[in-house]
Amino acid sequence: MAGERVTIVEVGPRDGLQNEKTPVATADKLALIGKLAGAGLSRIEATAFVSPRWVPQMADHEAVMRGITRWPGVVYSALVPNEKGAEAALAAGAQALAVFTAASESFCRKNTNCSIAESLSRFRPVMALAGQAGVPVRGYVSCALDCPYEGEIGPDAVAAVTVELLALGCSEIALSDTLGRGTPERTAAMVEAALMRAPATMLAGHFHDTSGNAIANVAAAWQLGLRVFDGAVGGTGGCPYAPGAAGNLATERLVAHFEAIGASTGIDLSALEQAGRWIGARLRQTAQ
Ligand code: HMG
Ligand code: MG
Repeated sequence: MAGERVTIVEVGPRDGLQNEKTPVATADKLALIGKLAGAGLSRIEATAFVSPRWVPQMADHEAVMRGITRWPGVVYSALVPNEKGAEAALAAGAQALAVFTAASESFCRKNTNCSIAESLSRFRPVMALAGQAGVPVRGYVSCALDCPYEGEIGPDAVAAVTVELLALGCSEIALSDTLGRGTPERTAAMVEAALMRAPATMLAGHFHDTSGNAIANVAAAWQLGLRVFDGAVGGTGGCPYAPGAAGNLATERLVAHFEAIGASTGIDLSALEQAGRWIGARLRQTAQ
């Protein structure tokens, strides 16, 4: 295990902040993104080009994407639900896109107002635009273990959506425990099902920590060969359309876990912890 490399994808500026009730200043989002790059994160999901009516906190997506002081070697990506989002994200300088659907029909509808099949067809023009721009596209499979509306989700449903996203041309599939109630055993069964359809090098693990199992779930996925994991600095976040979901797994805990098992992350943990404390303090001030 020692000497192995793991890639951490920082989703805090998007997934971490999207659920904040009071607006976070664009300047604070940009300062956070700068601190994350400074701590050594090489992939940062900076914002979401989604409808401001659906997720008001991401309404400043264009100002965020255009305002980033770019660090060499860092890829700044944007979450997009459709062609309109992809066009705007690419025009603003997104270096990678992420589309999102779900393994649960009910969540997909609540989150994006369409069925899983419709969400996939919305991604076709996104893939075409990304292809023209030479930009990679990650595909999220939300509710890969549990859905707030349908309960437990079977591994076959995850495998089926994984296949569809790969067929569209996604370069990475983020298997996402949106609700954060998964166990290592159920995580392993879900990842094994996805591995029947995709190599480990194309899969990433995205865990929330509602039940306190996120690190154990990461370990289960690592054991099966996954080497890309998502974190949100400070353990911020949740999805506005996933009631009961607590924050994302904190990037600090993810990095500390990999340091403890001797895997190299390339991240300066103390700089990352400082960024986590800083955004925590800013969010507390904003909420007052
Ligand atoms: P809709 O209302 O069905 O869309 O929303 P529409 O096509 O009928 O358009 C309605 C209006 O939205 C129109 O404006 C469009 O122009 C506008 P109007 O003419 O009424 O003024 N619109 C847009 N505006 C900005 N950017 C766009 C865009 N598209 C349309 N891209 C839609 C459908 C998908 C747009 C909406 O449901 C939406 O934005 N949903 C996003 C929900 C979201 O962001 N959820 C959180 C992220 S997912 C998540 O958290 C899980 C994940 O993190 C994994 C995990 O954590 O487990 C990925
Ligand atoms: Mg998340």
